[in-house]
Amino acid sequence: MKKIGIIGAMEIEVETLKSHMEIKRTVEKASMVFEEGVLNGVDVVVVRSGVGKVNAGICVQILADLFDVTHIINTGVAGSLDAAINIGDIVVSTDVMYHDVDATIFGYDLGEVPQLGVKSFVADQSMVKKTMEALQITAKEECAGYEGRVLSGDQFVASDDVKTRLVNQFKGSCTEMEGCAIAHASYLNHIPFVIIRAISDKADHSAEVDYPSFEKKAAGISAKLVEYLITTI
Ligand code: ADE
Repeated sequence: MKKIGIIGAMEIEVETLKSHMEIKRTVEKASMVFEEGVLNGVDVVVVRSGVGKVNAGICVQILADLFDVTHIINTGVAGSLDAAINIGDIVVSTDVMYHDVDATIFGYDLGEVPQLGVKSFVADQSMVKKTMEALQITAKEECAGYEGRVLSGDQFVASDDVKTRLVNQFKGSCTEMEGCAIAHASYLNHIPFVIIRAISDKADHSAEVDYPSFEKKAAGISAKLVEYLITTI
């Protein structure tokens, strides 16, 4: 039986999903509140992980150990790294990389975690395909959807220089602060995953102004997509 773990870093990214679901069990662990129940007829566990890679990794491990989830979806917002991808648009992960990992001195690629055997974490292809199809139904009028590489690091990117470096070094489509840790922990636990991010800002000098203005709307677009997507997985 499928049971889908849905992670948002912030309450604003999961509040609608929680309000729409029938909650059957609430479990508190590692300062996170896991809501287990039924959303749109599908067994789910919805949780706010908190911001950053450590929170995100711990959250996945709990979803694996305590809830036996079969799939993991990360919903949330991100900064765009591609001029064609605008505020309100959606990026669906093809693969996910850390932009703040550097063991190049030992011959690893930039972003590659040593001794793991993978250079990036590849999202589940079927989940990616279904997300792109779901987008046509829930958000076609509102925004454009792009498949692309998601970059993560413990850094809110809000400078032209950093953005340029990330684009040149990693060829990412968007940047955020949890996706790669979720992907990494899902990979270690053999759980298929997809990262879905709506764009709240351009990850450059304009991000400081744009992010607070568009955070809520972008978070809502991604959550609405997820609510439909889970019925098709
Ligand atoms: N989440 C939303 N926008 C972001 C940005 N510019 N950098 C990191 N995380 C983000």
